Amino acid sequence: MRVEVGEIALEVEDHGEGVPVVLLHGFPLSSAMWTGVRTAVEQVARLVTPDLRGFGGSDKPASGYTMEALADDVVRLADRIGLARFVLGGHSMGGYVALRVAAAHPERLAGLILVDTRAEADAPEARARRAAAIARIEGGEAAAWRDEFVANLVGATTRARAPRLLAELRADAADVPAHALAGCLAGMRDRADSTALLAGLAVPALVIAGEEDAITPPASARALAAAIPKAELVLIPQAGHTPSVERPIPTAEALMAFLRDHFPPPAAAIRPRLRPREIEPEEP
Ligand code: MLT
Repeated sequence: MRVEVGEIALEVEDHGEGVPVVLLHGFPLSSAMWTGVRTAVEQVARLVTPDLRGFGGSDKPASGYTMEALADDVVRLADRIGLARFVLGGHSMGGYVALRVAAAHPERLAGLILVDTRAEADAPEARARRAAAIARIEGGEAAAWRDEFVANLVGATTRARAPRLLAELRADAADVPAHALAGCLAGMRDRADSTALLAGLAVPALVIAGEEDAITPPASARALAAAIPKAELVLIPQAGHTPSVERPIPTAEALMAFLRDHFPPPAAAIRPRLRPREIEPEEP
């Protein structure tokens, strides 16, 4: 469905019942990255997955690609669909956005899910890499740059055993226009450091990372989980930067276990599908 958030409209999937869970995709992908975990998570939650501005089926305005602007879109979306408090999750760039929502609107969060992401701002070398990428994209090399970038999203196991998944990621990224790529790269390059807010996060948190992630390696996921008071960490074997795509079953299991433990459905909702058969009294 399309949901208007201020001047633009986002394409949003919204299905399932239970605690509302909003999952934000990474760069330069779309909500399609959650396809493999969707059915499982919808068993225990109301799952809301928007395409962020610039991506997938959402509007692709010329500007507004700072992490704060993307976070404002998410809060407007929550307002429009009636979510007062919700579990917010984000993959990589989606995690940077989720942490900006946590900084500006901590009262809206019931829980936090951080997938292959980090709280620190870009180091100087990373800022320089972003600037070089923007120059290439603006110089007409968007498609070549995007293909090189997407190749790093999967781990060695996926590259060797499931190249089809890399082709799917490439296809998902193929329609992202150059101005959205460059806008988000600048937004990520200039993003605020969110580490100071981690110690004050009072909600349950889940940190997930692929063991073969070269972009946000397991060591940084361990440090992120250690810095959040109520966080648990799940490392997904044989996955790189995109565990929900590369290893959807263990990723879905981690999400479901976290949601079941911290946001169990109300007792009335747990009904056996079939009425237990009446037990006939035994003949004396
Ligand atoms: C992502 O997956 O969203 C990006 O790799 C994040 C980044 O480049 O920092």
